[in-house]
Amino acid sequence: MLVTGKEILEKAHREGYAVGAFNVNNMEILQAVIMAAEEVKAPVIVQTSEGAISYAGIDYLASMVRLAAQKASVPVALHLDHGTNFETLIGCIRHGWTSIMFDGSHLPLAENIAQTKEIVKIAHACGVSVEAELGRLGGIEDNISVDEKDARLTSPDEAVEFVNGTGVDYLAIAIGTAHGKYKGEPKLDFDRLQTIKKLLNMPIVLHGASGVPEDSIVKATKLGINKINIDTDVRVAFTEAVKTIVTTTDIFDPRKICGPARDNMAKVVKAKMEMFGCAGKA
Ligand code: G3H
Ligand code: 13P
Ligand code: ZN
Repeated sequence: MLVTGKEILEKAHREGYAVGAFNVNNMEILQAVIMAAEEVKAPVIVQTSEGAISYAGIDYLASMVRLAAQKASVPVALHLDHGTNFETLIGCIRHGWTSIMFDGSHLPLAENIAQTKEIVKIAHACGVSVEAELGRLGGIEDNISVDEKDARLTSPDEAVEFVNGTGVDYLAIAIGTAHGKYKGEPKLDFDRLQTIKKLLNMPIVLHGASGVPEDSIVKATKLGINKINIDTDVRVAFTEAVKTIVTTTDIFDPRKICGPARDNMAKVVKAKMEMFGCAGKA
């Protein structure tokens, strides 16, 4: 069933676990995520970036995810990841997304608050949940490129001001993770997470979680992270499976390439769900 992000994440916040939010761009990734969630009985957040929407089309993604959620035996939320464009944010609300992220993390605090507040007002009037981000992660993906020197960890005082001023349902914070592949091992600022969680007492989101060691993920979950975004590790699972098949066989049927890639992605997604503590919570 399709549910709001708030419904999934308020429960995770109350019960102390994290739900995986996986980026999808096509049918195989979506099916891998849903298959995995059903197998381990986990609630799940399927998320689409603005890049995914440009690639696949908003109507294709909306139809595919609506169907997948209707058929699923677990709660599924459809979330817009890193929304920056007003038309896309409204387009997602109109096309049935149940959660949107407005990413104003590049803006000065007052401007981020003003713009996020406006989006919250519209989204809440439509029954759609809202995530926002404070602080800046490093790393590179399609529509996001933040140099290490521009990355900035979230200030606890600003987080309180931000949440009070905007009414967001969950907040993404920067505590040392980065988007994409890590060069070294990420070091997370757990004290900062603990302080922010205590002050806000609401669902908290961790971006850039691919490649973060299991013990750090488990600790972050214990300290109050409730939504964990994964994209890169699933991309790698897809590509590794495809590479193996095309370099070691003469197979040219896309189904025999994408099918095993889908299974490999589902394996990775299931392992993440076990790690996040959401397996068995559906
Ligand atoms: O954090 C961003 C997501 O991994 C989406 O990346 O903009 O390349 O689709 P993308
Ligand atoms: P990774 O690609 O590093 O897993 O980050 C995903 C993410 O934060 C999506 O918003
Ligand atoms: Zn992100």
